[in-house]
Amino acid sequence: DKDPRIHGIQTKIRVVPDFPKQGIMFQDITTLLLDPKAFKDTIDLFVERYKGKNISVVAGIEARGFIFGPPIALAIGAKFVPLRKPKKLPGKVISEEYILEYGRDCLEMHVGAVETGDHVLVVDDLIATGGTLCAAMNLLERVGAQVVECACVIELPDLKGRERLNDKPLYVLVESH
Ligand code: PRP
Repeated sequence: DKDPRIHGIQTKIRVVPDFPKQGIMFQDITTLLLDPKAFKDTIDLFVERYKGKNISVVAGIEARGFIFGPPIALAIGAKFVPLRKPKKLPGKVISEEYILEYGRDCLEMHVGAVETGDHVLVVDDLIATGGTLCAAMNLLERVGAQVVECACVIELPDLKGRERLNDKPLYVLVESH
């Protein structure tokens, strides 16, 4: 049932122990980007899933959602909207704070970039605790958009981030334990 391209993608993701701190197994997608075939397969798998599904906006989460989101948006004919860390966007923004393991962070989106009735795909490289995707969905729903699905390259299923998404569908290519 699994697409044969998935294995090739998985082997190109470098796992770096104890980065950025002790106990974290960092999932490094920069090695995936160095392999044009595996990178293209990654984008193609998402495009095949979402093409013709009436998605009007791809929202990418800073920073690595800015790598995977735009090629998907171009291929399916959707707008690309960046969801940024605080104080980066020059226009009027709406903000959503979220709790991290240590401290808090925030995502911001330009007012007017996404409108009531937009059908949105949220893209990031990875879901860990799910806090980031949850904040992204809250932002989008606050402006009246409909989040169709969240898409990530990698899921860390042991952290149960999926449970924080309020039953919103999440599609991932690779699980890492
Ligand atoms: C990572 C990753 C996701 C988020 C997932 O980003 O790229 O955006 O963490 O974690 P969560 O599911 O527990 O919320 P990071 O916070 O490292 O920010 P960066 O991309 O700006 O480096």
